[in-house]
Amino acid sequence: MQTVQDAAALRAVIRGWRNQGQTVGFVPTMGNLHAGHHSLIKLARARADRVVASVFVNPTQFGPNEDFERYPRTLVQDQVGLAEHDCDLLFAPDVTTLYPFGAASSVSIHVPLLTETLEGAHRPGHFDGVATVVCKLFNLVQPDLAVFGQKDFQQLKVIERMVRDLSLPVKIMPAPTLRAEDGLALSSRNQYLSAENRALAPQIHTTLLQMRELIAKGHARTVVEQAAASKLARAGFEVDYAAIRRVEDLAEPADGEQEGLVALIAARLGTTRLIDNLPFD
Ligand code: PAJ
Repeated sequence: MQTVQDAAALRAVIRGWRNQGQTVGFVPTMGNLHAGHHSLIKLARARADRVVASVFVNPTQFGPNEDFERYPRTLVQDQVGLAEHDCDLLFAPDVTTLYPFGAASSVSIHVPLLTETLEGAHRPGHFDGVATVVCKLFNLVQPDLAVFGQKDFQQLKVIERMVRDLSLPVKIMPAPTLRAEDGLALSSRNQYLSAENRALAPQIHTTLLQMRELIAKGHARTVVEQAAASKLARAGFEVDYAAIRRVEDLAEPADGEQEGLVALIAARLGTTRLIDNLPFD
């Protein structure tokens, strides 16, 4: 597997493939790759002739008090994992390649409505940073398809909306969430957890399962949400939200609405913020 840092080198490799009529699948990441990321590579591999991954810790999607500085950067280890999973090309740009005028002066893409709730409400500007960097990466790689994990459910929805609204010629493929055996969704941030908090963390997943069960039994949405938040708080989590929303637009469902729902939780254990979700269908 080849690694390229600059846009010209990236384009040259991809042009070569295009000239042979090959299709390109793309998996954008921030690195520190785990089996969840690798499952996205596998999916792209099955659907496209060539697979490109990117590793870029994107400054514009981190808030001022978030973990940009301490986000784990493990490029050599990432290269080994990507090569093992049959990735053809790694694009690992530096900040000036993606933000030639500086991150603070960049053109910014704002996806309205969808970004005002849940993660967007707790991380102001986060999705502007995500949409902007993904659009830039799409313009550089020009993939036929790109794979995004359902682990970041709202992110997936934001990208789908951006692609449709801006008529970007790329197919977005969702990938299921990969979990540890105890149910904890794999995440680069799990390694920040103390042993004690790591043992508590799977309660997020069990709570999501309970939320699904209670809704299926006909309990009122707001009651289910409150019960989930209090249960997690009692266990030691600081809960940002425990919510049931429509899959389609993340709006609050009407009373009694049962179809096309997803439960989403964001909660902190110590300084580590975890998110997870469970589509009910
Ligand atoms: P990152 O957190 O590195 O995640 C890259 C991709 O891996 C995302 O599509 C994410 O949903 C997926 N992923 C993470 N954990 C997963 C798991 N346990 N199972 C399946 N997929 C999982 O998401 C980002 O980076 C960034 O916001 C990015 C889109 C790259 C823009 O900077």
